Amino acid sequence: MANFIDYRSDTVTLPTKEMLEAIMNAPLGDDVKNEDPSVNRLQEMAAAKMGKEAALLVTSGTAGNLIAVASHTQKGDEVIMEANAHIFTSEAGGIAAVANCMPHLIPGDKGALDPDDVKKAIRDKGNEHHPRTSLICLENTHNGAGGTVITIEQMKAVKEVAEEHGLKVHLDGARIFNAAIALGVEAKEIAAQVDSVTFCLSKGLSCPVGAVLCGTKEFIAKARRVRKVLGGGMRQAGIIAAPGIVALETMIDRLADDHANARLLAEALVELPDIDLDLSTVQTNIIRFKVKSGAAAFVDKLAAKNILVHRVSETAIRMVTHRHISRDDVLYTIDVVRDLS
Ligand SMILES: Cc1ncc(COP(=O)(O)O)c(C=O)c1O
Repeated sequence: MANFIDYRSDTVTLPTKEMLEAIMNAPLGDDVKNEDPSVNRLQEMAAAKMGKEAALLVTSGTAGNLIAVASHTQKGDEVIMEANAHIFTSEAGGIAAVANCMPHLIPGDKGALDPDDVKKAIRDKGNEHHPRTSLICLENTHNGAGGTVITIEQMKAVKEVAEEHGLKVHLDGARIFNAAIALGVEAKEIAAQVDSVTFCLSKGLSCPVGAVLCGTKEFIAKARRVRKVLGGGMRQAGIIAAPGIVALETMIDRLADDHANARLLAEALVELPDIDLDLSTVQTNIIRFKVKSGAAAFVDKLAAKNILVHRVSETAIRMVTHRHISRDDVLYTIDVVRDLS
């Protein structure tokens, strides 16, 4: 894909030279015995970054979310989440298939849940006919809504409802550092509003693989068991953790460049008559819009100019900026899309 400008996702990012060197030089051990120094270091760093007691390296964001849901719930429980949450739409039904939970969906506003809607969705504990509500899942940034950011106040309002009803809150923070940059806060201020958080190493942070789940010591001990059940106990996992350490040390601040590039591109796209884009949703590195004449032809025309984009539906397109897309690439893309209209 070297000659393509690839906007399909920030998951296409490749590890940096420093990450590859870190892999070569990582001190290793058996992580199933808690003896991998690189994994232990990454987990300590991740817990500190999220302001949590403990952390667990997992293979992917999907694994982190599934392990979190399974660790917070019992069979048959209901989990409240936004109607377009990644956990619901794009994680292969894992919370049903593996954690034996049902999603209770609430339509959100740019990915944010209204606390009154959450309150109404919580089942009456005294009614034996009802499933038990035990968990609320939030997503920040919200992929399906276009990389939108949920504010600290919006998260706090949901947390207060959760606390009133004895529920836990898990955050799918696959892109929590994008949210933190957009809000101008430390990631731990976002994570303080939830009991557990998963963040991805392998998206904008450019690691080849991995995500980290953070929470209390007790929760992480439980999550470690669930990870084991799912076959996710890894041995010399330091080769995954080592680039994660580089990512946490060096790759967070540059996400602001991706946000600036997304904004530059979106401001040009919104001017085009064939494109229907709500600029207010472009808050981080994701742009979602409709192409009135159809998404498939748009994808093909851009591909012919060496630009790859993700077709979400018959009419919808997603474009994601990341480390391999420069400002010049964006300027070239703008020229190409202007020529199409
Ligand atoms: C919001 C969100 N959560 C979770 C995931 C899952 O991450 P992974 O692909 O590492 O399983 C993604 C992946 O795109 C995502 O966008």
